[in-house]
Amino acid sequence: MLYSSVLALLGAVAVSAAPVQPFINGTKLPDSSVKQAGGAPPNGPPPPTLSQTAIGAFQLANFLENLESNYFQTGLYNLTQWGAGAVGGVDNVAFVGKVAGQEEVHVATIEKLLSHFNATTLNSCRYQFPVTNTHDFFALANIITSVGIGAITDLASSLAGSDPLLIQSAASIITVEARHDSYFRMTAGEVPNPAPFDIRISGAWAYNLALPFVIPGSCGALPASMTSIPVFPPLSVVPAGPPPFAPNTPPTTITFSVDETKMPAGYASKPLFIGWVNQANTVIYTPVTVQGKGVLNSDVPQTLNGMAFAALTGQNIAPDVGTLTTQTMAGPAPVPFS
Ligand SMILES: *[C@@H]1O[C@H](CO)[C@@H](O)[C@H](O)[C@H]1NC(C)=O
Ligand SMILES: *[C@@H]1O[C@H](CO)[C@@H](O)[C@H](O)[C@H]1NC(C)=O
Ligand SMILES: *[C@@H]1O[C@H](CO)[C@@H](O)[C@H](O)[C@H]1NC(C)=O
Repeated sequence: MLYSSVLALLGAVAVSAAPVQPFINGTKLPDSSVKQAGGAPPNGPPPPTLSQTAIGAFQLANFLENLESNYFQTGLYNLTQWGAGAVGGVDNVAFVGKVAGQEEVHVATIEKLLSHFNATTLNSCRYQFPVTNTHDFFALANIITSVGIGAITDLASSLAGSDPLLIQSAASIITVEARHDSYFRMTAGEVPNPAPFDIRISGAWAYNLALPFVIPGSCGALPASMTSIPVFPPLSVVPAGPPPFAPNTPPTTITFSVDETKMPAGYASKPLFIGWVNQANTVIYTPVTVQGKGVLNSDVPQTLNGMAFAALTGQNIAPDVGTLTTQTMAGPAPVPFS
């Protein structure tokens, strides 16, 4: 929902405590969203062709942007209820209103491209987000946006091989997402720029990172490009808690947990590692000590900054996130370090 319409609703005082679930569909973008976002989808002609690879990659981007769009539309409403602050003289509600509008425009842009090539666009799912206050909202916004940045960086990388004419639109989205993330970090007093590089994550990792927020069965039929993505058992950081920003002092060890019933039999009898993906570096592996049923302990590399993603794996040589994805046993888990 737009900032202006939230204010109109609040003005009418008819708003009950029941959260509204507004959702603006990409292909029917209202003028008010465009105004709020500061602009419309690109108005130039689409490229002459769209590869099958790119169709699948943009369908995943559609899925992820739908989630972000819902998060910021519903979160905007929540912020007006929770009471919001400001960063550097910018009001949080005004800022998130722009974020919500811009995510709607991103969804519309991707759906316009897919529709032009007669490819299936993705309906929004229903979502559950574990946030009940402004602090947790921005902490999860940082995590969700870091996932988006990682996934669109991967999209850009893939387009370089298949559809180079589209790299520019992907790159133009990444920089805007990064500005969003800078602000989220600053709400917690964190510097906006913790590291010189952002992360690329694989599409499969991004999908798995999004799934905990998607109400199972609520997405309708997904295209084959999505149903073919592997679903990994979750890897959780212990103790569980609300979505975190980075702690003041980075941890030297982390305990993770997995649901043993979802793991292959005997998985813990072989050497296990955590693969850490951070910035534009090769994967760092640390050995795992099994502490108990589904309880796994690992040292933390001391070179991680910003957001890192950790996955449980049975090997320690896959050099990059693409090859680690094919060797992922559980996860990934997002872990903010600074
Ligand atoms: C908004 O608030 C509702 C009710 O507290 C909560 O269930 C939902 O997850 C919140 N969503 C966001 C994005 O803040
Ligand atoms: C999409 O489908 C329409 C109607 O069948 C057709 O005219 C058009 O050429 C198709 N476009 C592409 C890019 O395949
Ligand atoms: C709009 O989005 C809602 C929620 O995802 C969906 O149920 C509905 O089918 C969509 N409508 C159109 C016209 O796409």
